[in-house]
Amino acid sequence: MLGPVILAASRSDRMRRFVSAAPGTKQVVARFIAGETVDQVVPVIEDAAAKGLEVTLDVVGEDITTREQAFAARDAYLELIDRLKGLELGTQAEMSVKLSMFGQSLEDGHELALANVRPVVEAAAEIGTTVTLDAEDHTTLDSMFAIHEELRKDFPQTGCVIQAYLFRTEEDARRLAANGSRVRIVKGAYKEPASVAYQDKAEIDKAYVRILRILLEGEGYPMIGSHDPRLIAVTQELARRAGRKLDEYEFQMLYGIRSEEHLRLAAEGHRMRVYTAYGTDWYGYFMRRLAEKPANLLFFVRSMITK
Ligand code: FDA
Repeated sequence: MLGPVILAASRSDRMRRFVSAAPGTKQVVARFIAGETVDQVVPVIEDAAAKGLEVTLDVVGEDITTREQAFAARDAYLELIDRLKGLELGTQAEMSVKLSMFGQSLEDGHELALANVRPVVEAAAEIGTTVTLDAEDHTTLDSMFAIHEELRKDFPQTGCVIQAYLFRTEEDARRLAANGSRVRIVKGAYKEPASVAYQDKAEIDKAYVRILRILLEGEGYPMIGSHDPRLIAVTQELARRAGRKLDEYEFQMLYGIRSEEHLRLAAEGHRMRVYTAYGTDWYGYFMRRLAEKPANLLFFVRSMITK
């Protein structure tokens, strides 16, 4: 029951101030956030590449309130891509973006987010890589899918994310699998009402498997975003049955979670991409990680007390 409470707190400014100032926070945040600056994240990318891992880079931030913040988000990604140029990693380092950080919820937000994300996608293409649009809460998804479709006209490799907990997702998966898209499937990390989303973990897992099947049997490139050992095993079996070779889909996991498993899957010959978040506006991202595993919250509280 703690998960929904933590997710509600992830949208509270008062909690943001409390958590950010709490003793011990930095130490716990560092488990999930690879650094605060581009300079700090570059060695993490190089280390991953040396281990045979790929990365998708997320400059943390969301729910911004001014157009200036949206432009700053765009510029932060452009700065990152400029630094990646020298590393010549191609698709080994791609980007994940949250459209809310690009202004999606402001006035004329759809157009603003599209105008801000396009130069990022263009710059990524220039260095031989691509961008994936993260999925946020369900009210933002029609706009996200429309932006995805628009970007794919010029940059067909642009990816998007779908969430197994939403009732709508099987239909989205069918459309995306038929049009050859890169699609990351995840369980879903936001607090969603029972009118739009499964609430029961077992129901979400069953939906995930149905969607996996659609994606693996389809024409697109599936990216399996999960740490769940059962879903990883199911993916391997369904991919084999669908006749997919190891480079025709990939696994993705979050930085700091099940790191040994990243290495195990890569050693088995799988493409393994680590979602690597960095930056200073880590609050929303961090709270979702706490909500996923109550033990993280205990660790966090303990670190505050022992400081
Ligand atoms: P589940 O939550 O059942 O976890 C399985 C096991 O993994 C746990 O038993 C535990 O061992 C470990 N684990 C999982 N989460 C952990 C945590 N926070 N701390 C410690 N251990 C943990 N969501 C979304 O709504 N939109 C998005 O765009 C994305 N993007 C995204 C990218 C990638 C690469 C991943 C892996 C995940 C996302 N997510 C996401 C988050 C996703 O929706 C989901 O909340 C988490 O992946 C947790 O679900 P699992 O599938 O890992 O299963």
